[in-house]
Amino acid sequence: MDYLQILGNNHLTGTIKISGAKNASLPLIAMSILTKNRVVMHNVPHVADIKTLLKLLGNLGAEYTFEDETVIIDASRIVKTTATYDIVKTMRASILVLGPLLARFGHCEVSLPGGCAIGQRPIDLHLKALEQMGAQIEIKAGYVQAKAPEGLHGATIIFDKITVTGTANIIMAAALAKGETHIINAAREPEVVQLCEVLRDAGVKIEGIATAMLKIEGTNQELLHVEPFRIIPDRIEAGTYLCAGAITNSRLSISFANAAHLESVLAKLEEMGCCFEVTEHTITVIPTENLQPVKIVTQEYPGFPTDMQAQFVALATQANGVSIIEERLFENRFMHVSELQRMGAEITLNGNVATITGKTALSGADVMATDLRASSALVLAGLIAEGETNVHRIYHLDRGYDSLEKKLQSVGAHIKRLKE
Ligand code: EPZ
Repeated sequence: MDYLQILGNNHLTGTIKISGAKNASLPLIAMSILTKNRVVMHNVPHVADIKTLLKLLGNLGAEYTFEDETVIIDASRIVKTTATYDIVKTMRASILVLGPLLARFGHCEVSLPGGCAIGQRPIDLHLKALEQMGAQIEIKAGYVQAKAPEGLHGATIIFDKITVTGTANIIMAAALAKGETHIINAAREPEVVQLCEVLRDAGVKIEGIATAMLKIEGTNQELLHVEPFRIIPDRIEAGTYLCAGAITNSRLSISFANAAHLESVLAKLEEMGCCFEVTEHTITVIPTENLQPVKIVTQEYPGFPTDMQAQFVALATQANGVSIIEERLFENRFMHVSELQRMGAEITLNGNVATITGKTALSGADVMATDLRASSALVLAGLIAEGETNVHRIYHLDRGYDSLEKKLQSVGAHIKRLKE
């Protein structure tokens, strides 16, 4: 297994190019199931989760290529509708094939994703919505067995909780359903917005894009013709590197990011004393020697993203004062805390609220990544810790960050990937 070795006291300078968004790419790869032509998507990040989902589609019979940052998928030859446990267990977002397979073929079997490190992460809202659209759903032997022999029909779906992949699943199911579907309390993440825009450009009538209320007129199982498109930038990768600039007190630029997708993150960095220079293609963080403590509550978009929570816990160890960070979306998303404490961080946990006392000098240590975003928090801490930090189990990191150590090396970080 690989690990990352980081020597502390880094000062960074230069520009990091942001890759395409993993969480936009995944639903759009699943969306290819709804199409009759080859789907061409540009700016797809080279991360493990993308490769996993492409492998799943390949197992169903789709043909695909992934060269440079372009994915081309021909899903016209899909012959199977079973997403097996061996793949789904490695990546819960595989559940995104449920809606499209059911909408197109009228039946499918998708392994239950099971929980994951950050929480139980049920899919009850996905299943309840599909049943309202006419699906017969059974859970058998760890699989969701779904049937809709007459095809799916439009319905009014009210999501009791905002669910990103739940919204994406139902948008895709509704695109091929018969009649109109209203989705109330829809997720408004930019990744969901791009899915809607691509479907709209393929001729699906969608109203309310980027709002919490969507109206989708289905094509009644008429497959879609999708024009080539470019995946939006990864706002969480972008936020992570802006935190790298802030935590190392470096004037660091990121390119190809979309500042409009980062408003809540930029606002919190400004509250901590950072400033920004934003041009058409770059965002530059102007750091401060005197980081201020911050209060954060994670929310659905456009609120502060849960996927940036771990990175800000690491950053808050360098603020002069007491920061309070509350995790509202997942029940177990503070596993980075114990690893940061081993580096000397002063953090107390009370339920889903972390209290971070800074400014604390961190010391390098062997630490273990536990989930995707916790991994990046440990890298950020390693950049400023005294001495050597080794971040182990970075297969978690490789799920969602494209070439992280190369990008950080390019701006002067002392970081390298080694074999255990
Ligand atoms: C998406 O996960 C993202 N993944 C996650 O990013 C992100 O953390 C999360 O949204 C929240 O923003 C992808 O887009 C592939 P949810 P998702 O359904 O869709 C509860 C990363 O770091 N819920 O919005 O699985 C659930 O338990 C990953 O890239 C139900 O109760 O999250 C959670 O508390 C990690 N029943 C809340 O809703 C359901 O049927 C939000 O979950 C579905 C969800």
